[in-house]
Amino acid sequence: MSARADHATEIAPGVHWIGALDPDLRSFDIIVKTANGTTYNAYAVRGSEGVAIIDTVKACFADEFFCKLESVARYDEIRVIVLNHLEPDHTGALPELLRRAPQACIYISTRAKQMLKGLLHGDSLDFTPVTTGDTVSLGDRELSFLHTPFLHWPDTQCTWLADAGLLFSGDIFGCHFCDSRLFNDAVGDFRFSFDYYYAHLMRPFRERVLQALELIDALPVSLIAPAHGPVLRDRPQHYVRRYRDLSISTLKNEASGVKTLLVFYLSAYGNTRTMAEAVAAGAEEAGEPGSIRVSLFDLEVGEVAPFVDLIEEADGLVFGSPTINGDAVKPVWDLLSSLTAVGLRGKLGAAFGSFGWSGEAVAMIEDRLRGLKLRVPLKGVRAKLIPTETELEACRALGHGLAQHLTGQAEEQIIDMAALA
Ligand code: FEO
Repeated sequence: MSARADHATEIAPGVHWIGALDPDLRSFDIIVKTANGTTYNAYAVRGSEGVAIIDTVKACFADEFFCKLESVARYDEIRVIVLNHLEPDHTGALPELLRRAPQACIYISTRAKQMLKGLLHGDSLDFTPVTTGDTVSLGDRELSFLHTPFLHWPDTQCTWLADAGLLFSGDIFGCHFCDSRLFNDAVGDFRFSFDYYYAHLMRPFRERVLQALELIDALPVSLIAPAHGPVLRDRPQHYVRRYRDLSISTLKNEASGVKTLLVFYLSAYGNTRTMAEAVAAGAEEAGEPGSIRVSLFDLEVGEVAPFVDLIEEADGLVFGSPTINGDAVKPVWDLLSSLTAVGLRGKLGAAFGSFGWSGEAVAMIEDRLRGLKLRVPLKGVRAKLIPTETELEACRALGHGLAQHLTGQAEEQIIDMAALA
């Protein structure tokens, strides 16, 4: 059975998919590619005392959403509107839904209030913030909520329909894959889309994913209804396990207890390379043998993608770049701009580089590292053209100092407040 533009599809007794198909979408949120388009999944849940709507659709698909909704419920039956996530691809039809069903109460996560205000611009908005354990009754059935923030925005939550073993999971377990056959055992092969979606939306928040899985593991889930892509009715636990596998670090297991420092560089005439080797050597000399693992990479190989996984697992990152026309060189920026999909908060960062005229690259990289929420505890090293022995010693000291910070040997810095005044 295929989903149709004008018909709702029953996914469980009294529960209908009322979403929209968007087969022609080729990029989502600008940066995520969608080779198969996507779906905006919304659902209607009928109870003995009213109907709940779970999410809506992107605004341009509102007509399709309302057409399906009207095939399974009257507007005056809608008592509950649950917004698992307020991103506009799920709330585009909300203003019109509220106009047609003004009696309905909105249920959002405790983190979603400001976003709802930003969407609806109303001072007298009526809504109920909910968190894990809160419930809303539809008479003979009950919805309950799971607080699962940052998956994919701070406001996100899941909704559980216990009598059907049905988890409305929002963006979690979703993927951008449009197939009108709707169910995971009927659609085409969406494994790539599922993992790609995880990599771009969930991976930066892997710790949050694992926290959400703890809540989900406690439930007897027999059906997962995400906000995008196929409804997961065949082996839903397979997708829960896949999320756990993708969220658990393999490299951390491989090098357990060892701090990792990655040194990246580019070098036109070998000067920045010499500095990189000195930074790495200084780091190697610090700490007990086996307490730190230092790796050196020449970014001239051109491909930055393979380094992203390494960076996610690393504890410290050092970037060496010459300055060309007042800027760090492009491969450094390419790598740094590839890191939005990984968690960087709390890692250590530093920079160094040789230059001919002005030498701005080091400070520019340091600023970018701070912008990415890395700690930059040590001032970078600059060398005009060929580094002197003193400058190479400064590079060794930079590596040594970073290693000490990573291994907990660094002396505490005493800040003289009088000197700051
Ligand atoms: Fe499907 Fe984060 O929106």
